[in-house]
Amino acid sequence: MKRIGIIFGGRSGEHEVSLLSAASVIEAIDRHKFEVVMIGITKSGQWKLYEGDSSAIPCGAWECAAEDISVAQLPSLADFMFPVLHGPYGEDGTIQGLFEMLDLPYAGCGVLSSALCMDKVSAKKIFEEAGLPTSRYKLVYSEDLDTRMDEIIAEIEAELPYAMFVKPSNMGSSVGISKVRNGEELREALLLAAQYDRRIIIEEGIHCREVETGVIGNHRPEVAAVGEICAKLDFYDYTAKYTEDAGTEITVPARLPKLTYEKIRSLAKEAYRACDCSGFARIDFFVDKNTGEVYINEINTIPGFTKYSMFPVMWNEMGVGFTELIERIVEFGYERYYAKNNRQTVR
Ligand SMILES: Nc1ncnc2c1ncn2[C@@H]1O[C@H](COP(=O)(O)OP(=O)(O)OP(=O)(O)O)[C@@H](O)[C@H]1O
Ligand SMILES: [Mg+2]
Repeated sequence: MKRIGIIFGGRSGEHEVSLLSAASVIEAIDRHKFEVVMIGITKSGQWKLYEGDSSAIPCGAWECAAEDISVAQLPSLADFMFPVLHGPYGEDGTIQGLFEMLDLPYAGCGVLSSALCMDKVSAKKIFEEAGLPTSRYKLVYSEDLDTRMDEIIAEIEAELPYAMFVKPSNMGSSVGISKVRNGEELREALLLAAQYDRRIIIEEGIHCREVETGVIGNHRPEVAAVGEICAKLDFYDYTAKYTEDAGTEITVPARLPKLTYEKIRSLAKEAYRACDCSGFARIDFFVDKNTGEVYINEINTIPGFTKYSMFPVMWNEMGVGFTELIERIVEFGYERYYAKNNRQTVR
């Protein structure tokens, strides 16, 4: 029986979300087909093997009952890696690089697509190059803020209308992101974003509905139902995303005109291909409330994976349950691994 290593926790602001997602994944895995190996990473980056009950994962109690391991032990502990980690050091290509070095098959996107989708500026450039609709933006370097702040603000204002969104290029979970309505707010938002990354992206704000869909597969990706998120707060920030009572509601399938609904699904497939994704990903879109135009916002290469998260719910709508979804993702990981190995043998 294959031993699937579920990796959770991690050195990111989304550590707790990862614990919730991992507990759901571990519960859903078919134990007749796979053996589950639970591998946690503490917030400080220590790897641990956990053999207790999965119910102790979400609250963090697993940590005391787990033993320290080193990454060199991974190939002897499991046959396949399933990183259920969100944000930096999990979703950004770094851990994927480690699996490549250790010659371990793994679930989800590879090094390039993980890194690409995590970096908002780079992803925008690929979307544009592929002819995919995305909001207008401007790139600013934090180093220039000290010397040219006034000029930079004038340049941004000349190109984009308020409201704008200011974001560190490489973060996730809405950390360091602001919605700004005037020059003073823009200045503060640039300084805030500069605390997180040297590249800062300023986007035209779209007055929008937020919809998403899921994609799975390698060369022939399949697309899930489309879902809509309604956040009662000003924008779908970290609190709205991960607090149950923050008033976030999801609707699957999203109530959209048929043409728009199908357009989103086909754009999702194109974006997945353009960014060289594999395994699975969630693609997020904006639908302009006034014009009905669709814009791609971002690709999340390891989306939230709790029972109530958009990604599994959108697949469930297509008749693919949580257990089957995980199984198929594992199969795609193996498919990709063997295809790559075969090419290397030929060479
Ligand atoms: N250009 C925009 N127009 C309108 N709303 C936006 C825009 N950019 C961001 N938002 C709002 O801010 C939220 C967070 O932005 P974004 O998804 O880019 O950040 P993130 O940190 O990468 O999120 P995630 O946690 O999904 O990785 C969006 O879900 C949306 O509500
Ligand atoms: Mg987002």
